[in-house]
Amino acid sequence: VDYTVTVDPSRTGAAIDDSMYGVFFEDINRAADGGLYAELVQNRSFEYATADNKAYTPLTAWTTTGTARTVDDDGRLNARNRTYLSLGAGSSVTNSGYGTGLTVRKGARYDFSVWARADSALTVTLADADGALATPKRVTAKGGWAKYTASFTATRASTTGRLSVATTRDAALDMVSLFPRDTYNGRANGLRKDLAEKIAALKPGFVRFPGGCLVNTGSMEGYDAASGYQRKRAYQWKDTVGPVEQRATNANFWGYNQSYGLGYYEYFQFSEDIGAMPLPVVPALVTGCGQNQAVDDDALLKRHIQDTLDLIEFANGPVTSEWGRKRAQMGHPKPFHLTHLEVGNEENLPEQFFARFKEFSAAIEAKYPDVTVISNSGPDDSGTTFDTAWKLNKDADVAMVDEHYYNSPQWFLQNNDRYDSYDRGGPKVFLGEYASGGNTFANALSEAAYMTGLERNADVVKLASYAPLLAREDTVQWRPDMIWFDDQKSWGSADYEVQKLFMRNVGDRVVPSTATSTPSTTAPITGAVGLSTWATSAAYDDVRVTGADGTSLLDDDFSGDAAQWTTTGSGSWSVQDGSYVQSDEAAENTLVTAGDPAWHDYDLHAKATKKSGK
Ligand code: AHR
Repeated sequence: VDYTVTVDPSRTGAAIDDSMYGVFFEDINRAADGGLYAELVQNRSFEYATADNKAYTPLTAWTTTGTARTVDDDGRLNARNRTYLSLGAGSSVTNSGYGTGLTVRKGARYDFSVWARADSALTVTLADADGALATPKRVTAKGGWAKYTASFTATRASTTGRLSVATTRDAALDMVSLFPRDTYNGRANGLRKDLAEKIAALKPGFVRFPGGCLVNTGSMEGYDAASGYQRKRAYQWKDTVGPVEQRATNANFWGYNQSYGLGYYEYFQFSEDIGAMPLPVVPALVTGCGQNQAVDDDALLKRHIQDTLDLIEFANGPVTSEWGRKRAQMGHPKPFHLTHLEVGNEENLPEQFFARFKEFSAAIEAKYPDVTVISNSGPDDSGTTFDTAWKLNKDADVAMVDEHYYNSPQWFLQNNDRYDSYDRGGPKVFLGEYASGGNTFANALSEAAYMTGLERNADVVKLASYAPLLAREDTVQWRPDMIWFDDQKSWGSADYEVQKLFMRNVGDRVVPSTATSTPSTTAPITGAVGLSTWATSAAYDDVRVTGADGTSLLDDDFSGDAAQWTTTGSGSWSVQDGSYVQSDEAAENTLVTAGDPAWHDYDLHAKATKKSGK
């Protein structure tokens, strides 16, 4: 097929904001602890609990010798950091970090710290099975809870390091920590350099944080002094700022404990460091992500709204304000320039959500009229929830709506024109999460094709972020992901390269173009499909799905017989000449597997004949 593209530079299209393409950071796949947060010690505060995760105990990632027990009593470090380790005279405790152990590099510096209540000499050792990795250090603890530090220089490299603390007398220990000195931008309590550098290399226009389902799922209550600890609570920013030993820990939605060592101050700081706009998401008192509960508690709603106003003050307020002062105390007297903030994530209950959203936005707009308050449209790209949410947002003249969708590459190829028909007078779009279901080159290509449609509609689509951003290879709750890592290295996916290409080359303005093709009646398309769903649309008359090498599905060991496949949608599929063929003109069909869930590992190819005139 010959395509002719006509570009007329004298015509001007939409202006494209520099901040259009950004990143979506969620603490999923151990993106924070064991990931971007450079802390090498796992469970440093002994707060892991079986109630959070059956595999956990307060001694997860620790081994002990001699007399050692974890204690939660009045002798604790503080009300938020409840459990500590009681170590008898002559005993020791050893941490194995994440994965295979602590990764240390020859010649690099490592900063140790511990909170101790003791009159004792503590010996701190960094070693692996082959012996010492650095000269052991001795610190002398005296009296009540106090912080002690030491620094190591690694004499050789290891990926199986262990950090040990031994005591000569009875001691209480908490917040046992080891950080590489070489963090991103050299910050204390900082970020793992290679990961932060990969994100920075994208030159993202914004950083959306801290999630995702992580934000609004779980209890909406904050820290509860009466019960001691409210686990799996929604992500509340005040839990995550101030000295790290005074921050709460939380059982997170994705099944592991989060330390909040990487908290709101660090998110703002990182955004500033990489020249990106900070874009926080706060919980809306409706639990999305499959939980679907609206919390009816006026006092609680008011507190959350006040917390959100306080968040804006923390980011932007003068040092004379209560929360601006706290920011200054943490090391940043200048404001962080927050301009956008989202309330809620993937809300399944549009009416209930919107009632709460209106209260948040009214309070924010009254006090901070320059801050754009972003709403959302639920978990999907279409359907009743989506339509209801959009209508509510439109009728109320909301400034911007967050859309999320995870679809097949085929969907991305076929829906390039999605925003061409969006109401130019309606809310702007923040495409806060999208991905095409795999990390293959074909996935990345389909996303690139789709992004040209986003950009063409830059007057409507103001912000867009692929999701999720990070995945630790041994702890994956969600795939695909943009950047992958283990303890030693990190690598970008093909999708990462596409994002980088777009983010680093944001144009100033769309130049309208048209494309025509000949012949228009039978334009075959071929695309690799790597998903558990595969859709066709009314644009195509005849669709065949075959194996990557051109062999028919029937001959392939992965697809077998028709019983392994079912279809959704109104069209019908049949087996012809060894392929699955869809030949009626149904609005949409999806071919899904009913059998082997691993079928999407195979590279399927779709061939369709374009419908006359489309
Ligand atoms: O990006 C992973 C998850 O997908 C997010 O937590 C959620 O918002 C969406 O469903």
